[in-house]
Amino acid sequence: MTETILQLLGGESVIRKIVPAFYQKVFSDSALVPFFEEIDQTAQINKMVNFLRAIFGEEDLMVNLRDSHEKLVSLGLNDSHFDKTKSYLKLSLVELNVDRNIIDKIMEIVESTRADVLDK
Ligand code: HEM
Repeated sequence: MTETILQLLGGESVIRKIVPAFYQKVFSDSALVPFFEEIDQTAQINKMVNFLRAIFGEEDLMVNLRDSHEKLVSLGLNDSHFDKTKSYLKLSLVELNVDRNIIDKIMEIVESTRADVLDK
């Protein structure tokens, strides 16, 4: 049986390291931080942990990313913000020594969310 990305990563504890490292970079970027001004940062980290645990574990996705980001698109969210966010996730994975092949798979998944996140 093929292992899920969650299993390949080594379980939820690894996601709990990746997500705060990733948001530390996002929240430090002056081009991205305005989108998070009204957001509770801890709640956002928890939402992303739950989201990644679900998609990496190949569970049904209960979140509609189009709805979640619609307001942000009206405020100017575009490909440049998506690309930066994606690169920060990749950097966090590299810094946590995640295997290259797993990083490539995760980047494919992130890319597959672009149309919904940016309401294309
Ligand atoms: C790269 C792909 C992205 C994924 C997979 C993603 C995923 C998510 C998820 C799972 C949520 C929580 C949704 C919910 O529970 O309702 C969320 C919310 C949010 N995301 Fe993203 N996101 C992405 C890109 C971005 C980008 C580029 C930005 C802005 C720079 C952004 C800003 C936000 C904000 C501000 C919220 C909170 C919205 C609210 O609570 O009103 N996201 N995102």
